[in-house]
Amino acid sequence: MTAKTLLLLAGDGIGPEVMAETKKIIAWFNGRGATFETQDDLVGGAAYDAHGEAVSEATMKTALKADAVLFGAVGGPKWASVPYDKRPEAGLLRLRKDLGLFANLRPAICYPALADASSLKREIVEGLDILIVRELTGGVYFGQPKEITDLGNGQRRGVDTQVYDTYEIERIAAAAFELARTRRNKVTSMEKHNVMLSGLLWKEIVTDLHKKSYSDVTLEHMLADAGGMQLVRWPKQFDVIVTDNLFGDMLSDVAAMLTGSLGMLPSASLGAADESGKRKALYEPVHGSAPDIAGKGAANPIAMIASFGMALRYSFGMARESDMLDRAIAATLDKGLRTPDIAAKGQATVTTAQMGDAIIAALEAAA
Ligand code: IPM
Ligand code: MG
Repeated sequence: MTAKTLLLLAGDGIGPEVMAETKKIIAWFNGRGATFETQDDLVGGAAYDAHGEAVSEATMKTALKADAVLFGAVGGPKWASVPYDKRPEAGLLRLRKDLGLFANLRPAICYPALADASSLKREIVEGLDILIVRELTGGVYFGQPKEITDLGNGQRRGVDTQVYDTYEIERIAAAAFELARTRRNKVTSMEKHNVMLSGLLWKEIVTDLHKKSYSDVTLEHMLADAGGMQLVRWPKQFDVIVTDNLFGDMLSDVAAMLTGSLGMLPSASLGAADESGKRKALYEPVHGSAPDIAGKGAANPIAMIASFGMALRYSFGMARESDMLDRAIAATLDKGLRTPDIAAKGQATVTTAQMGDAIIAALEAAA
């Protein structure tokens, strides 16, 4: 069997800690016949310290060749004053852009065992299973001009540009409709057409594509601000939410808290399929590098491990193994194991490594 190549970019802060637990999971699957070949490399602040760039050319080459990239987290106060184009986040943005990863899938699932860890009432979040499909290579993140200019009168001007072309909206909407067909068949598109022309175009293109190719799927439009409100009011009304890069960034953090903790949310960033059906892909937890808890063994590795679970499903056609991993995570939570981020007040907690080991034990028990 040909090896499946995984590039592991652990990054900064808690990135290396949660990646270490994910490596144990990869090794466990290899022990049962899988053929993952991993390679570690630097990204973010760690890459800046080593090479003066947030991601080196050599790493980009490896990423372009890998079957999938697993990404931890980047950033931290240590790099607060490095040049803007070399800041840790620039490494992640370059990977997304150069790999063409336009579709970012961010599922928000509330495990029953964690319903009380959410800041919302149990009945609002219990059983929640929604999917945010965030456009990832366009919009205000990448639009030009993007600059701070000196106006010469003691004033400066900061400019970012929100821009979307037809094809960018069409391909992300198509991804959302296709995914909805495998779920509860409903898509909610979120933009701000009441103030943004890019939002007006977004709404028109999504509506046209729906009419032309996906009229079997229920489509609903919502202004993104109202969407944020509905997400905390009654999130179970949603199935798939499709939205732009910036709104998707914000709304997915909101959705993460519904599930109990940012430490629970995995994500997949996918490119277009080539002739052989293969896609470039990067998998990463939605959470950041959490420098405040880095090195303390307090990080929750579940979002990173579940991101590998998404790789099993979306890059390697291993849906059965992916389900197995999801069940092992749920079983571990059912047993009451909690990292500090998901512990109730006064509840005993486990370390990052203990959580990883417990998930392996749950895999063993089910195998
Ligand atoms: C995310 C993060 C990134 C983003 C940062 C680290 C650049 O917040 O993946 O949600 O804004 O996209
Ligand atoms: Mg974010």
